[in-house]
Amino acid sequence: MKLLVTGGAGFIGSNFIHYWIKNHKDDEIVNIDKLTYAGNLENLKDIENNPNYSFVHADICDPEAVKKAISGVETVVHFAAESHVDRSILDPSSFVKTNILGTQVLLDAALNAKVKRFHHISTDEVFGALELDSGEKFNQDTPYNPRSPYAASKAAADHLVRSYQITYGLPVTITNCADNFGPNQYPEKLISLAITNLLEDKKVPVYGDGLYVRDWLYVEDHCRAIEAVLEKGKIGETYLIGTNEPEISNLELVKKLLKLLGKEESYIEFVKDRPGHDRRYAIDATKIKTELGWEPTYSLDQALDITVKWYQNNQDWWKKLKGQEYKDFYQKQYGKNANL
Ligand code: NAD
Ligand code: TYD
Repeated sequence: MKLLVTGGAGFIGSNFIHYWIKNHKDDEIVNIDKLTYAGNLENLKDIENNPNYSFVHADICDPEAVKKAISGVETVVHFAAESHVDRSILDPSSFVKTNILGTQVLLDAALNAKVKRFHHISTDEVFGALELDSGEKFNQDTPYNPRSPYAASKAAADHLVRSYQITYGLPVTITNCADNFGPNQYPEKLISLAITNLLEDKKVPVYGDGLYVRDWLYVEDHCRAIEAVLEKGKIGETYLIGTNEPEISNLELVKKLLKLLGKEESYIEFVKDRPGHDRRYAIDATKIKTELGWEPTYSLDQALDITVKWYQNNQDWWKKLKGQEYKDFYQKQYGKNANL
């Protein structure tokens, strides 16, 4: 089988390509990626000469480039996106372009190329925010209520994907996943930022009261869930992906990282809150578990341990990323706390 992976040089896409090549040795993968600040070919260095892997440096908003890249492809796995909420608050325009327009360009190309499956990777953030301690969870029937430009652009993309199935018969599936962490994550998201800051002996910025709740999934478990949907998922269906872990606040999570890295709690710095900050996400993943037999295999503690070790052992990888572009973003985002 030939797959087109979009955004395969980013965090989850590169983990997925490694996972797929290891477990599906006869398949061919074409990776199309614009290489934005978040795209990094170092993530794929060890497979760049693999005869079953090729790279196309292009923007998914470019119909000609996408048309070429999709030729002969049976399955599209669409990761490419602008993915960071804080950047979407600073400048939503690239989110609208890549996440909405780029998805529509891909959908048209997939329809013309008569692909057998268009799998769209989405997020739980499209459902909005839950109250703390309400016991409520998102499921596949939860109404959309996106509250950040990032979430709104992903919600629009999800709607477009569904509309192509209903209107044109494109064979689509969608997964909405919880927050991911693990190797190759650009150091702007909470866990990768916290670990790399602590390794540089800097503090960890915690937004607001730190009592926000996310469901934290190890990236390899996400890749296995996508595999389950590609192999056993039903066309037109949506599957939510989340963990079995007890809920944990950002503050408790950061404390776990401090412990793993041998740092005092004085390394926590409470900073100005994110505007429109979603209080709590929680996922009911019963559908993917019962219908497709998927379960997460890593506990939070196991996966945090692996992840911390990866950042400890790959300091060149992330130190190179903390260059001028990163410093400019950090300054804009964290202002007077940028020198933490
Ligand atoms: P990332 O920011 O690490 O990587 C995104 C990749 O897409 C990069 O390689 C970038 O170069 C590429 N890209 C961006 N714009 C492009 C364009 N116009 N054309 C071609 N390539 C482009 O993102 P990630 O964390 O790996 O997320 C991947 C997908 O998973 C996204 O769709 C995101 O919404 C979704 N998702 C992420 C999480 C998470 O916790 N990271 C959780 C649920 C869903
Ligand atoms: P993030 O990793 O940006 O993922 P998302 O917003 O997509 O869930 O943030 C996870 C949580 O951590 C969220 O509640 C915001 C919070 N956070 C901080 O407290 N400090 C930070 O520096 C960052 C980046 C996030």
